[in-house]
Amino acid sequence: MTTYFDYAATCPIDEEALEAYMKASKEFYGNTSSLHDAGTKAAKLLEHCRTSLANLMNVKSEGIYFTSGGTESNVIGIQALLDAHPGNHIIASAAEHSSIQHLLEKLEQEGYEISRVSLTPEGILDIKELESLIREETALVTIQHVNADIGTVQPIQRIHTLCKKWGSLFHSDCVQSFGKVDLASAAPYFDSFSISSHKVYGPKGVGAVYIRPSLSFQPLLPNVIHESGVRAGTVNTPGIAGFLVAADKSVASLEEHQSVIRKRKEYFMELLTEAAGELTVLGGLNEVPILGLCIKGMDGQWAMLEANRKGYAFSTGSACQVRSEGPPQTLLSMGFSEQNAKTFIRLSFSHLHSEEDVKGLADCLKQIMADQVRKVNV
Ligand SMILES: Cc1ncc(COP(=O)(O)O)c(C=O)c1O
Repeated sequence: MTTYFDYAATCPIDEEALEAYMKASKEFYGNTSSLHDAGTKAAKLLEHCRTSLANLMNVKSEGIYFTSGGTESNVIGIQALLDAHPGNHIIASAAEHSSIQHLLEKLEQEGYEISRVSLTPEGILDIKELESLIREETALVTIQHVNADIGTVQPIQRIHTLCKKWGSLFHSDCVQSFGKVDLASAAPYFDSFSISSHKVYGPKGVGAVYIRPSLSFQPLLPNVIHESGVRAGTVNTPGIAGFLVAADKSVASLEEHQSVIRKRKEYFMELLTEAAGELTVLGGLNEVPILGLCIKGMDGQWAMLEANRKGYAFSTGSACQVRSEGPPQTLLSMGFSEQNAKTFIRLSFSHLHSEEDVKGLADCLKQIMADQVRKVNV
């Protein structure tokens, strides 16, 4: 059996979220755009979910559009903001998720000028660099709320202030922050932001994007009827119902979960005290489930595969980039050399972990480190 420490990649579905998904699949199966009673019944559930989600994040429900997940939400949010602003300059952090990086590559080909801001060695956006790059033509600043590799929380209030000063719009990828930190207090700073269901124990293939309702923009496709014309395709009502149950639980238990996660992370580092000289902790021991670690001289990919053989699952970065060549951009933008960045592993914790799970992981890593020393000495 595997003990799972890759909750930032995806989570198992919560039992109550699964029940809601099944109930809605059986009882609210109508197409939300159909005019008969089955459609109306599903549409009512959908609007109830929209209002509940808006309340969880302290935003207006008219700004919420349900999507297939964080990736699509990032694309829809960014395209909407670019349509709403005449500028042709975009600023992004060098550590954005691949869903944003891929979109930026396309936008660059279409003629947008893209500037990328580095992170400081502590993994925080370099505000001075942002300040030196932002200008009147800057249509969009896109900065993640919580970093997907090392779990640092970005200074969104300061970024918002700069955007306001220059009239730029601010999109934030909140996929790793929703249900993990207080997004309701951060939401007023964003013009658009994205969230995803499967990172908070909801069903996969569901998410939402918030776009400030006062912004005027043309949707990507014309004449779409679903989601007020912003997102085409039959609405996944059962998935959204499951998402809302999971989201509700995550937000309601936020502080309790944060406290368990902080304790588990601290306990884990305590267990590795003897090996501290061989380890670099990235992002610090905050309340976010993610913990970045570099083990001196050990290839992260090798550590991950060895741990997998011993029954422990973690990753070497965001799941969408681990199959691509090279180490995480987050580390490179913090100033790590390629070689050092390759020693990176990402552990992501859950409130579901027991102390025994954490001890097992620490023992497993100690064993892998000891095996490596033995190999070198042979
Ligand atoms: C920061 C971040 N943004 C976006 C995504 C993509 O979300 P989804 O898998 O729902 O498309 C992920 C998922 O790994 C992520 O970590």
